[in-house]
Amino acid sequence: YEIYLRGMSGAVPRLPTDLSRLEELTEQRLGPGPVGYVAGSAGTGSTADANRAALDRRRIVPRMLRDVAERDLSVEVLGHSLPAPLALAPVGVLSLMHPDAEPAAARAAAAQGVPYILSSASSTPMEEVAEAMGDGERWFQLYWAKDREVTRSFLHRAKAAGFTALFVTLDTPLLAWRPRDLDQAYLPFLHGVGTANYFTDPAFTAGLAKPVHEDPDAAVMHFVGMFADPAKTWPDLAFLRENWDGPIVLKGILHPQDALLAAEAGMDGVVVSNHGGRQVAGSVAAADALPRVAKAAGDRLTVLFDSGIRTGDDIVKALALGAKSVLVGRPYAYGLGLDGQAGVEHVIRCLLAEFDLTLALSGHSRPTTLTADDLIEESA
Ligand code: FNR
Repeated sequence: YEIYLRGMSGAVPRLPTDLSRLEELTEQRLGPGPVGYVAGSAGTGSTADANRAALDRRRIVPRMLRDVAERDLSVEVLGHSLPAPLALAPVGVLSLMHPDAEPAAARAAAAQGVPYILSSASSTPMEEVAEAMGDGERWFQLYWAKDREVTRSFLHRAKAAGFTALFVTLDTPLLAWRPRDLDQAYLPFLHGVGTANYFTDPAFTAGLAKPVHEDPDAAVMHFVGMFADPAKTWPDLAFLRENWDGPIVLKGILHPQDALLAAEAGMDGVVVSNHGGRQVAGSVAAADALPRVAKAAGDRLTVLFDSGIRTGDDIVKALALGAKSVLVGRPYAYGLGLDGQAGVEHVIRCLLAEFDLTLALSGHSRPTTLTADDLIEESA
């Protein structure tokens, strides 16, 4: 209610409370290059649109007279109690949004008590970000490199820096066709700014003929050639299981069969996600995939969700469709671009406040009582 109370006393928030306006504001402030990188999607953008449509098509059917005076938003995720079903999704190269980059996002998440998933493609070395996270929940996202030694080194560094859960992104064995990046020649990896986490890695630099500063182009090409590996198959997960003793969550799962394979491979969870519509053009909308994956996962896997979450009611819907918690990507990247750490905190606070209100107004005092019966699906 703090945001409401401040509003009543005439204090206008620095950023809009309707988070859908952040993209346009960021474009005005930072220009089309950085926003093209964040907003851009695969192909015509139809998958990102479908993500929104699939959430919009589902409508909450509120219940009345259910004593929602006292509410508890906490959820159990990967053996931890989280204060609310929200985490910040891994977003690479945040220095394109703000010079304070990943450490600012990490500080914001820690201050608001939500987990931050640090991207492998961080523009700040992971050790620095870990320090900024203080007591916050440290989760690490792995782009599973072609080179085993680099993967081993990343896992070793992440463990030493206090990261607990590992999110392995499977939907990016290649970078998709993203016209907004291509048209503006704005592929940040090729500019080298997305590679700090790699350029400071001993196993990565050992593979270079010359030090990074002597031949940066060769270093970037080395990165492009090894950051992901389209030849990987399910049995390869054994390598990660052997080299990581915390929970492992597979990010980018859309097919129920893949959820079963994840459980068989001894994984702890999945993120139902189509990378915010940035990878497979024409992919199923993430919210349409969620119920089937959740059903296949049963109690064997923790099911998380992202791709298209913009409001508190979206969170209610995702939980009703079977997710334990959601991740949010672009909105906090824009918050960072507009107002650094404070902008990210603003986005988290708005989402949580709206979620709390919508949950209560829907007749629930805790997230765990939401089920598919709380929604209807309008015909497309
Ligand atoms: C991403 N995403 C992503 N995912 C990942 O596993 N590693 C990464 O480095 C990145 N980088 C990245 C950059 C940018 C600019 C965006 C927008 C997204 C995907 C991200 O984790 C998440 O799946 C989506 O952002 C969720 O969709 P919304 O919330 O942006 O609609």
